[in-house]
Amino acid sequence: MSLDLFAEQDLQQPARVERISEQGFVLRGFALPRARALLDALDCVLGQSPLRRMQTPGGFTMSARLSSCGDLGWTTDREGYRYSHVDPLSARPWPPMPEVFLALAHAAAATAGFADFIPDACLINAYAPGAKMSLHQDKNERSYSAPIVSISLGLPAIFQFGGFERSAPAQRISLFHGDIMVWGGVDRLRFHGVMPIKPGQHDLLGEQRINITLRQAG
Ligand code: SIN
Ligand code: FE2
Repeated sequence: MSLDLFAEQDLQQPARVERISEQGFVLRGFALPRARALLDALDCVLGQSPLRRMQTPGGFTMSARLSSCGDLGWTTDREGYRYSHVDPLSARPWPPMPEVFLALAHAAAATAGFADFIPDACLINAYAPGAKMSLHQDKNERSYSAPIVSISLGLPAIFQFGGFERSAPAQRISLFHGDIMVWGGVDRLRFHGVMPIKPGQHDLLGEQRINITLRQAG
């Protein structure tokens, strides 16, 4: 894969880095210089693999709508959680990972101390007001050696960054349009989730929050 680092020049802004754990960080506004390009790329991805509702193995319908891009996409249904090369909706491969996603994720990971992050999977979560994500661990990836890079766009969210058991207390972190979270290493398997999104209007995205999560899954 050729990773064009063109975009990383002007991503070397002095981002406001907040450390939330030993190897967990919030990079405030890190995606802002690329917001327009991110949204254009997102439109292109969602034109090929639209957002859809998914069911958990326990039979609940998730309140966020999901899609994916990259070599591997994440899905859930009554049979379980999995990564696959094919979008079950179209029976075609997931759309390719946009260059701007790769470049931004690579730069954000490097800023947080994780060199050489090349994601092969990108999950897109869209939250309307009221939608949420229950506490969970990201553990369907083959290895946990790479971090999770998570880009927030649109309406703000209160992100829960917990411990290594579901019952452990969670920090509540406000995430805004353009913020990027990175967690990995000793913090890679922390439980995390999103509180119900509050009603509101975002200038670019209207009544929704979009989260783009990049992982090394395969
Ligand atoms: C996720 O954990 O997959 C989503 C996190 C978020 O929406 O910020
Ligand atoms: Fe997650």
